[in-house]
Amino acid sequence: MLIELKNIIKNYENGDVVTKVLRGINLSVDEGEFVAIMGPSGSGKSTLMHTIGFLDRPTSGEYLFDGENTEGFNDDELARIRNDRIGFVFQSFNLLPRTSVLDNVILPLLYSGSKTNYESRAKKALEAVGLGERLHFMSNQISGGQKQRVAIARALVCDPKVIFADEPTGNLDSKSGHIVMNILEKLNNEGRTIILVTHDKQVALHANRIVTISDGEIISDVLVPESDRVHSKEIEEDLDI
Ligand SMILES: Nc1ncnc2c1ncn2[C@@H]1O[C@H](COP(=O)(O)OP(=O)(O)OP(=O)(O)O)[C@@H](O)[C@H]1O
Ligand SMILES: [Mg+2]
Repeated sequence: MLIELKNIIKNYENGDVVTKVLRGINLSVDEGEFVAIMGPSGSGKSTLMHTIGFLDRPTSGEYLFDGENTEGFNDDELARIRNDRIGFVFQSFNLLPRTSVLDNVILPLLYSGSKTNYESRAKKALEAVGLGERLHFMSNQISGGQKQRVAIARALVCDPKVIFADEPTGNLDSKSGHIVMNILEKLNNEGRTIILVTHDKQVALHANRIVTISDGEIISDVLVPESDRVHSKEIEEDLDI
């Protein structure tokens, strides 16, 4: 099992006010799965992603990542897992402005343990998302869809086991959204685990499993029948990436 959450609770405390955001989440994700997380606004989806992605720690509960109990990990160890084994893609891209596409993708390599081939590895990741021709554009000189593909290349460059994507198509037009889903699907077919938050059922149907949360609790967790799944191959001929 790649990810195992046992009774994860997350509260935010501001002064005397305690907001209970995750109320006992139990969730296991196997390597190679493609999981979509759905649920109303404010239900705790991003909080759950941040907790599983080590951007934030749970208030209580047990989190095993790749068989290791993460509770005792210090901030440096968490940063290392985040950098080497996890890729994050956000709704708002979060690229460095006035910095080239190539340099945005090189950045995580600089923080990683690896010492060589920064440029060729970053190029390879950008080629995998169809942006081999845009290496020297500034990140603010490309379209939203292209920015999200740069963000995926950046998530991919350290060869992570799992990619977390929080509403990756939320700011995109439908064609760019299809291209992004096409790429995520290919990465999953290559064996990478994908965990995706979306409000869009059609986007969620790319996954093999849909987990729904409401008010900080999982209210359903279902496998998507193969006949209901949306596969990008069906729309691939429309895409010129
Ligand atoms: N740092 C924080 N301090 C206090 N409360 C927070 C904090 N971050 C999130 N919350 C609260 O936690 C709840 C869940 O937020 P979260 O961002 O996880 O929801 P979400 O399901 O991702 O919503 P959306 O679909 O709108 O992105 C909300 O009520 C929010 O106000
Ligand atoms: Mg959110």
